[in-house]
Amino acid sequence: MPSRLQDPISLGALNLRNRLYRAPVLEGAGSAKNPAKVYAKHFVPNAEAGVGLIIQGNTIVQPEGRTSPGMSAVHDQESLLVFRPMTEAIHKAGGRIVIQLGHGGTYALESWHQEAMAARTRPPLAPSPLPWWIRLILDSVHVPTTEEVEGMTQRFGQVAAWARDAGYDGVQLAGSNAKLLHQFLSPVYNRRTDKYGGDLDGRTRILREIRESIAQQAGSDFPVLLKYTAVENTLWGKGITLDEGVAIAKKAEEWGFQAVTPVIADMLPNTAICRGDFPKHTFRHKKLRQTMREAAGNAYRFYVIATAMWFSSRRYPFQPVWNRPVFSAVRDAVSLPVFGVGGIRTPQEAATILQQDEADLIGIGRPFYAEPLLPKRFLAASADEPFPAMACENCNRCIMPQMVGMAGVCYNPETHQRRKELAAMGTPPA
Ligand SMILES: Cc1cc2nc3c(=O)[nH]c(=O)nc-3n(C[C@H](O)[C@H](O)[C@H](O)COP(=O)(O)O)c2cc1C
Repeated sequence: MPSRLQDPISLGALNLRNRLYRAPVLEGAGSAKNPAKVYAKHFVPNAEAGVGLIIQGNTIVQPEGRTSPGMSAVHDQESLLVFRPMTEAIHKAGGRIVIQLGHGGTYALESWHQEAMAARTRPPLAPSPLPWWIRLILDSVHVPTTEEVEGMTQRFGQVAAWARDAGYDGVQLAGSNAKLLHQFLSPVYNRRTDKYGGDLDGRTRILREIRESIAQQAGSDFPVLLKYTAVENTLWGKGITLDEGVAIAKKAEEWGFQAVTPVIADMLPNTAICRGDFPKHTFRHKKLRQTMREAAGNAYRFYVIATAMWFSSRRYPFQPVWNRPVFSAVRDAVSLPVFGVGGIRTPQEAATILQQDEADLIGIGRPFYAEPLLPKRFLAASADEPFPAMACENCNRCIMPQMVGMAGVCYNPETHQRRKELAAMGTPPA
């Protein structure tokens, strides 16, 4: 079966050598002395191994709003320009890099992480006052005025212009996993009565204005991608439906976005977007457990987090290509490129997705932590032959360390053994 994975593709002005991309998974460089070096350590081997596009994990456009201590804040020009050596090294290796821009909103560290709560200048942002049942677990929020939201759309444009100066090939808006932009799209969170709320036109208006602001400030040819929640599962109330998810992609096309990544997400920030196991090992690890307990500030918050993670692993077990119904529905409805992501683990799955025109690019996330040189063997593999399984076991041990500020790497010792086995089989591991 011939695969189209190696075919080049253009996203507006952004030309990619193939259709394999590294999905945004946080790198944990935020508090490092030389963050560019940390990012380069992650990304340059991926580019040298042949990946077409790297999407750098979520950064925040304001000083507050991280959802993980290692997330980079890109609220001034200097904090972006430091990344230039890294973007240049990726270009030298033939890769391309896009940076994800966003804000944690309600679930920013300022709402649950002891240190961030103590240092915050105001409560975390939310589109509207929170539903009563979320108020049981979260502190107060700040609901931005219409003018403040307008200011925020301008800020995204400004940050995109700095990203261009820093050598990035484009930006991706982070509109999934219950972050602020997702919350604006969601009828559960967004009950505003101004121009940014109400029907789908109102709830998506922030995306349109950010797109316009980026065109004005970074140039109309600077590529802007969108990752967003196209189906929102809720515990109470009606979330974003698939029909709305498809309609959002149509609007994104109309507004000049260069590509979309539609995903299924929960209304809470949980493992719906990275389906897999409950990471019991990290909760049993004495030191890590203690660090998490201290970060959460009290036993109540710690147990809420642990229970929510356990519940979400039961609700969302790993399933190969779990976003297929969503990205294929969007692909049918629009002509702009659609990114597929979520549990794609074999060249056969990738080949089928591309051949059946269900998506235009293939995204892989967590396995890059375990195998930085994965693109080499994934791109070289024949879709007709068995593919030696990836080292990543979807164990989700990578999540909790990041919640307390540790590096974005694989924390499963068994994957190191697996990498050795892959080496012995003659495939090129990390
Ligand atoms: C530790 C971790 C960090 C992540 N960080 C981000 C992020 O910054 N932005 C984002 O849009 N998705 C993020 N994701 C979701 C991934 O981009 C991806 O959608 C998900 O892991 C499913 O792909 P996979 O099964 O290939 O890992 C993260 C996932 C994990 C496990």
